[in-house]
Amino acid sequence: MEWNNIRLEGHEGWALLTIDRPKVLNALNRETLDELEQALDRVEESGDIRALIITGSGEKAFVAGADIKELREIPSAHEAERLAEKGQALFSRLEELPVPVIMAAGGFALGGGFELALSGDILLASEKARFGLPEVNLGILPGYGGTQRLARLVGKSTAKYYALTGEMIPAEEAYRLGIVQKVVPHEQLLPEAKSLARTLSKQAPVAMNFIKKSINQGAETDLKTGLRLEASHFGTVFNTEDRMEGMDAFLEKRKASFRGK
Ligand code: CAA
Repeated sequence: MEWNNIRLEGHEGWALLTIDRPKVLNALNRETLDELEQALDRVEESGDIRALIITGSGEKAFVAGADIKELREIPSAHEAERLAEKGQALFSRLEELPVPVIMAAGGFALGGGFELALSGDILLASEKARFGLPEVNLGILPGYGGTQRLARLVGKSTAKYYALTGEMIPAEEAYRLGIVQKVVPHEQLLPEAKSLARTLSKQAPVAMNFIKKSINQGAETDLKTGLRLEASHFGTVFNTEDRMEGMDAFLEKRKASFRGK
């Protein structure tokens, strides 16, 4: 399938998805959201993609937000709400994807771009990355989950500070706040993301899926319910062949070879 705004490259065990509208700093128009949805279908259907990297093309940006030209033409509150729901559903799907998602930000990750970055599992940044929610400067608010995910990650006050001022967060500050897991020299960003994807592609897929579920679902509930969920997922994973393989490999002092079963 040919797409106009994104590229999906398959590698052994993992894939690289690039948002490819460099002339507008990879801004997300509706067509790009639709194509991302189709790419996620492809990833889920493939069965052999065990880790996904998402990045932006060009030197300047990860994604500079929703496409402001398109936003400008939205005629009604109703349509704006529908668009927010569309973006939110896509980003929630990404968050819940059965395989780990590595976001690799090498430049501006603003508005919808920051919201996209916050929907992955691991966020890698180059020293040039800048994160932020500048929607307030346009007279609107973040609509693809930014007020919710950022507040859950860094607390309400810090999220309010950045959403109300629109100030950008440099990569090192984002690391200090726990938004970014690693900051690397700019030219190291993709090599680092690929090396991590290769590592993850060799981990037990079912275990990774349930680790994601346990953390994502648990973060939205009280400790007692979260612990219940964890115990239930722990039990589920004991039904897999991979757990026998993992434990046998340890005891036999060899590397495990996981099959996702
Ligand atoms: N939508 C549409 N076009 C965009 C864009 C966006 N979000 N961001 C950048 N572009 C376009 C610019 O209009 C410009 O196009 P032209 O060459 O045709 O003029 C091109 O990309 C390059 O951008 P700049 O010339 O502005 O580059 P710069 O280096 O001077 O500035 C920037 C970079 C600070 C990121 C600046 O482009 C900028 O502020 N972009 C908008 C960021 C923003 O407000 N994002 C939030 C969007 S709203 C949103 O995302 C809502 C939501 O939550 C869903």
